Amino acid sequence: MTEPIRYVSDVPYVPGFTCELSPEWLDFVAVLCGFEPPGRASDFSWCELGCGQGLTSIVFAATHPEGMFHAVDAMPAHIAWGRRVAADAGIGNLAFHAVDFAAAVELDLPQFAYIVAHGVYSWIDEEAKAAFRRFIDRHLAPGGLVYVSYNTMPGWAADAPFQHLVRAIAARATGDSMDRFDAAAAAVQGLTRAGAPALTASSVAAGWDAEKDRRPRAYFAHEYLAPAWRPLYVDDVRRDMAQIGLEPVGSATLRDNFDGFVLRRAAREALEAIADADLRDLVRDYFLLQRFRRDVYGRAPAGLDDDERRKRLFAMPFALVTPAALVEYAMATEAGRVTYDNPVARRIVSMLAHEPRTLADCLTGPDRTQAPAAQDLLANALALCCAGTIAPVSRGRADVAGLNALLLEDAGPGTAYRVLPFGTAQKFDTRFLVALRDGKEVAPEVRPWADHLLRWA
Ligand SMILES: C[S@@+](CC[C@H](N)C(=O)[O-])C[C@H]1O[C@@H](n2cnc3c(N)ncnc32)[C@H](O)[C@@H]1O
Repeated sequence: MTEPIRYVSDVPYVPGFTCELSPEWLDFVAVLCGFEPPGRASDFSWCELGCGQGLTSIVFAATHPEGMFHAVDAMPAHIAWGRRVAADAGIGNLAFHAVDFAAAVELDLPQFAYIVAHGVYSWIDEEAKAAFRRFIDRHLAPGGLVYVSYNTMPGWAADAPFQHLVRAIAARATGDSMDRFDAAAAAVQGLTRAGAPALTASSVAAGWDAEKDRRPRAYFAHEYLAPAWRPLYVDDVRRDMAQIGLEPVGSATLRDNFDGFVLRRAAREALEAIADADLRDLVRDYFLLQRFRRDVYGRAPAGLDDDERRKRLFAMPFALVTPAALVEYAMATEAGRVTYDNPVARRIVSMLAHEPRTLADCLTGPDRTQAPAAQDLLANALALCCAGTIAPVSRGRADVAGLNALLLEDAGPGTAYRVLPFGTAQKFDTRFLVALRDGKEVAPEVRPWADHLLRWA
């Protein structure tokens, strides 16, 4: 019999979708950072480790019929939810595996072009981390990409005492993980109010009143009660990944790939003096007070020259994921406010408002006389990507009506996901999606979102 995993396993996690795990998003990161993405001319395979309920895997399998998808999680209740939804939606290209990482290593699986794990690596113990790496080592295809996200130091430094105390108090409480977390969080809140400096210095503890209502109870139980929870420094994770021959490719948090967006001048100058790439990125996280990294790795990834990189970027399709009327043409970053309100950015938004297109399409669009310079178009498109206004998407248009109907039926009163046919999903208030489904009038302030979604219905 296998040992139970050292993780919160008495209450299920909340179904969540992570857009950064899509094949197109990962390809985009690779090309953006000057690397060859995996070949996907025909079929390809993709695997999610620690998939939770598997909603992300479901969305990508439903919207990429040409791919084969696998999803691994040790908690049977998670896998049961995913299997049920996938079966009801008629998704045949997704296999769920209710096993831990150690057992998954031994499964008979294809060589994956993509292996992804969101919100897992800093929540599991050293043994599970080693099994996680063995899985990648054995099952990653040559030229494949790996996504690993994790709570990061030093951004969590001030909040670690909050997590430690919550877990210590919860260990002495009774009930399931959610009850024990609630009791512990209330006790810690009392200690914060009493002025314990180690808690008042924590933004999580100090802001707990507002924070506690922002997420479901199961989220907090999983976030804070995992016994092996430990935010990680980037150089340590790089060392782990180097053991299995993985090299850093870039960040799936797109703007983190651009010093100019996230660092002030003094920080950029200080970093220029550091030659060692891993050390530089570690120091960079000190400037960013980095709390969460979405690292993308490759095994000896092939480089692209500048011409090839540009050609690939112009050939990738992008979709508008914010209604055109609500686009701000500005984003707040760690370095301040970046603005790009100009005719080229507006041209991209207006062209993508009708359907996903490549940047090459945006360049040569209907009004050729007004065609912007390629460099200008690319710079604005990258800013829009970093702001989350547009996103790299698939070429196909899947029929997701049945899946959307199922997800809405299954959703609780809070929020529900709406899948878009080009390989992504967005979260909305359930009442809004129900009104949309039933053809009811929606409030004027959400009308642009209704029009945006109905376009793809
Ligand atoms: C914080 S949740 C993240 C879930 C999902 N990736 C998401 O972002 O919604 C971590 C997941 O890892 C799974 N897990 C933890 N340890 C594991 C192990 N040793 N083997 C397989 N799955 C594990 C848990 O069951 C849980 O679903």
